[in-house]
Amino acid sequence: MIQFFDVVIDLQSGDSGKGKISNSLIQSQEYTHSVRFNGSNNAGHTIYKEGKKIVTHSIPSGVIHGVKSIIGPGCVVNVDHFFNELNYLKNQGIDVKNKVYIANNAHIITDNHLKEDSSEVKIGTTKRGNGPAYRDKYDRKGIRACDVSELQPYLIDVYDEFYTSNDCRILFEGAQGFCLDVDWGDYPYVTSSHCTVGSAIMNGVPPQKLRKVYGAIKIYETYVGSKKFEPDDEIFSKIRDLGCEYGATTNRPRQCNWLNLDVIVKAARINGVTDLIISKMDILRQLRSWSVYRKGKKLTFYSENSIKEFIMNELKGVNFYWSDNPEDF
Ligand code: IMO
Ligand code: MG
Repeated sequence: MIQFFDVVIDLQSGDSGKGKISNSLIQSQEYTHSVRFNGSNNAGHTIYKEGKKIVTHSIPSGVIHGVKSIIGPGCVVNVDHFFNELNYLKNQGIDVKNKVYIANNAHIITDNHLKEDSSEVKIGTTKRGNGPAYRDKYDRKGIRACDVSELQPYLIDVYDEFYTSNDCRILFEGAQGFCLDVDWGDYPYVTSSHCTVGSAIMNGVPPQKLRKVYGAIKIYETYVGSKKFEPDDEIFSKIRDLGCEYGATTNRPRQCNWLNLDVIVKAARINGVTDLIISKMDILRQLRSWSVYRKGKKLTFYSENSIKEFIMNELKGVNFYWSDNPEDF
């Protein structure tokens, strides 16, 4: 039976440290399962293990520490990419044998989906076929993992898995982020799945067993896609360079901006965030520049402590972690 589940979600436009946080939590040995609940290989989660950089795309990061890892029913899967990612992880010295599974009811990204997404320009997608695959799923024209013969050894029924094992303690790892959520994000500049805690629950767990919601943010914001996001100010090129803000999936430069606290407060409420991990404090410290948007206005601070105090005051009741460390928080 399920003892509890925790969820890691991103409250911005992706790339806010979900991989790092999941990887750090998994090492507590509290979890029996690591589950991705939305998206596909449009995601790129960067993890440092003993100083070595590992990037995962569709396989949840629990696999790196030998925890049973499942691509959940809410995900869409590119079969070739899945096998390539398994090989990549093996080559990194990670034991993936009997550790990686795909929910039999997850949907498949086909060659046609990839072809269609390859010429997309309006949204600036990752061109991984993610949107067309979700469209066909909801149009009831999709192919599911259970229909693909090569995937048979990796299939799992999450109902059996979660409800018949004696001990089940799940860490859900989200992809993308609140501002890319198809309902809550800046539509149409969004992804085609739900990136909220509700999306994790739809992968087969009862809401009463939800224990903690870890919200991931950076002290500034980044976004990749077609809309203009970055204000005209050279400080953002400096943030991009110091923060190595280049996409882990497509290598595109990420547009940067100051933290939008209005969105974080909204996302924290809607998702019931219990713990907030704020990464990359070291980048703004090097530049000695600290600003946020709150109630639609830009506010500037003159010390790291004053911006921290301000943020904590706006989000009372949440546990805060300020993280510079790429391996841990
Ligand atoms: P992780 O999990 C950042 C963005 C794309 C585009 C929009 C739609 O690493 O945080 P899609 O391919 O999903 O149809 O593209 O969403 N996008 C991401 N941006 N991090 C991600 O994932 C993203 N996944 C998709 O750049 O603007
Ligand atoms: Mg990423």
